[in-house]
Amino acid sequence: MEKPGIILGVNVDHVATLRQARGGAEPDPLMGATLAILGGADGITVHLREDRRHINDRDLRLMRELVTGVELNLEMAPVGEMVEIAISTKPEMSTLVPEKRRELTTEGGLDVKGEFKRLSEAVKKLKGAGIDVSLFIAPDERSVEWAAKAGAQMVELHTGYYANADRKGMQKELERVRSAIDMARGAGLLVNAGHGLNYSNVHQVAALPGLRGLYIGHSIVARAVLSGMKEAVSAMKSLITEARG
Ligand code: PXP
Repeated sequence: MEKPGIILGVNVDHVATLRQARGGAEPDPLMGATLAILGGADGITVHLREDRRHINDRDLRLMRELVTGVELNLEMAPVGEMVEIAISTKPEMSTLVPEKRRELTTEGGLDVKGEFKRLSEAVKKLKGAGIDVSLFIAPDERSVEWAAKAGAQMVELHTGYYANADRKGMQKELERVRSAIDMARGAGLLVNAGHGLNYSNVHQVAALPGLRGLYIGHSIVARAVLSGMKEAVSAMKSLITEARG
């Protein structure tokens, strides 16, 4: 049986991480987004963090101007400042994530029940501004149930548990994702998945029925750095050789 298509949202945060390592202008995540779109990305994701450690306000503003033919997904904490920024930027969608200052990356899914009031208020404001909302949650029944109550149109199931599991655990984690997809769809939600997906583990997740989209960042940026290395060195070598006559 043929499966319907699935979208790929490319997270370009780590292009900006590399830029921030020198505090200069390159590589520019806008250029990263342009090339990602040329490569077939169906959407671009940026996570504007409270500490602006990679993507900053200028990036988001220009990204909104640049990304028009595909969806712009603003990943953010459900806090007042970000909700205001989202409303004035108007991305097609916003993915709400928990955010801890010292974490290296988003560590877990949202505690939707525990933070229900804050989340449902953020969802309401964003939806009121015409922005579709997705909640990043663990693939479990309780999270799905509360996400549906919070009024979001979508969830993104956290695939980090699957990605980080050992060989034996992976199948179990994949099953958790599979049944969370069914539950979420049963509750009327559109279902995405992401986090920790890479060139070796994406296949099994991409093959799951019922998924709307996959959101992938680090592994794509890591691959891009290496696949471009030969050409980058060769261009530099030519310049140097030319200068020596
Ligand atoms: N989805 C969400 C909600 C995330 O927080 C992240 C990380 O920024 C991703 C997807 C992408 O994860 P990765 O960089 O591991 O592909």
